[in-house]
Amino acid sequence: MKRILPNKTILNSLSCPICSGNFSLKGVELERGSISLLCDGVRKHCYDLSSSGYVNFMPPGHSDGGDSKAAVRARTEFLNTDLYRPCADALTEMLAKHLAPNDGLVLDAGCGEGYYTELLARKGFSCLGFDLSRAAVDAASKRMARADHDNGFFCVGSVFELPVAENSCAAIVNIFAPCAENEFLRALRSRGILLVAYAGPEHLMGLKRAIYNTTKENDGRADLPKQMKQIDELRVRYSISVKTEAQIQNLFAMTPYYWRTSPTDAEKLRGLNELDTEVDMIFSVYRKDE
Ligand SMILES: C[S@@+](CC[C@H](N)C(=O)[O-])C[C@H]1O[C@@H](n2cnc3c(N)ncnc32)[C@H](O)[C@@H]1O
Ligand SMILES: [Zn+2]
Repeated sequence: MKRILPNKTILNSLSCPICSGNFSLKGVELERGSISLLCDGVRKHCYDLSSSGYVNFMPPGHSDGGDSKAAVRARTEFLNTDLYRPCADALTEMLAKHLAPNDGLVLDAGCGEGYYTELLARKGFSCLGFDLSRAAVDAASKRMARADHDNGFFCVGSVFELPVAENSCAAIVNIFAPCAENEFLRALRSRGILLVAYAGPEHLMGLKRAIYNTTKENDGRADLPKQMKQIDELRVRYSISVKTEAQIQNLFAMTPYYWRTSPTDAEKLRGLNELDTEVDMIFSVYRKDE
């Protein structure tokens, strides 16, 4: 499988997490050999690309955070059913409404295994995905390489400390991942766009009804931006039918309920071969001031 490399737009926005220097690619001519990002600071910091093409910007010895390998596998298997494709299409169209695909970098903050990032790259946006989970970023890189795009790249890093230059991003998408408003404001260019996706009141009600005796609507997100101006919003609602026990388990594993549910309640999903549930996602768009 071909290894993905950062295009010019992506490379120019990355900045060395140690000295804030600019990066260039080193060893790019070696098809299967080592390729690194080399900074132009005095100490010439060097970050090797993995075999699937991502860069790990976390300090050495930092224990792996974010989603586990099993959680990433469950998410990948569920998203590959395309049951969330109407949400992904709505996200892509919403972004395209506010930004032309060739007009700068789109950063996917908390990109997971790259389902949405790949669809944004397919639409022509230059995409840089960040996630704390190495397993997620590895899966995202492989997804992007399989799709054969040259406008997507992934890094292991925290959304609270993004190794990108100030004012370098045209847009940031933040889908069901922690929202780091201050860091996003630093990274966004003037009048840059932040698109936050989160669960609407009815999201996965059918799944909740299958588990719990009493259910209530989802609350809104507590960490929505407070300093930026909201300029647009879209709510996407439809029903899905999840057809196998394995995919029901995958969907369950993607939710916060997976960790909060008692073994007795979780057991109620065992042997269930079909689950009808609502999908309800909200896409809120914010703009950075001049
Ligand atoms: C619910 S998943 C959503 C993934 C992806 N956006 C999607 O919708 O498919 C949340 C993701 O946020 C990542 N995450 C959690 N804390 C993070 C942080 N501080 N910085 C970057 N990623 C983080 C997790 O590893 C996980 O992949
Ligand atoms: Zn450096």
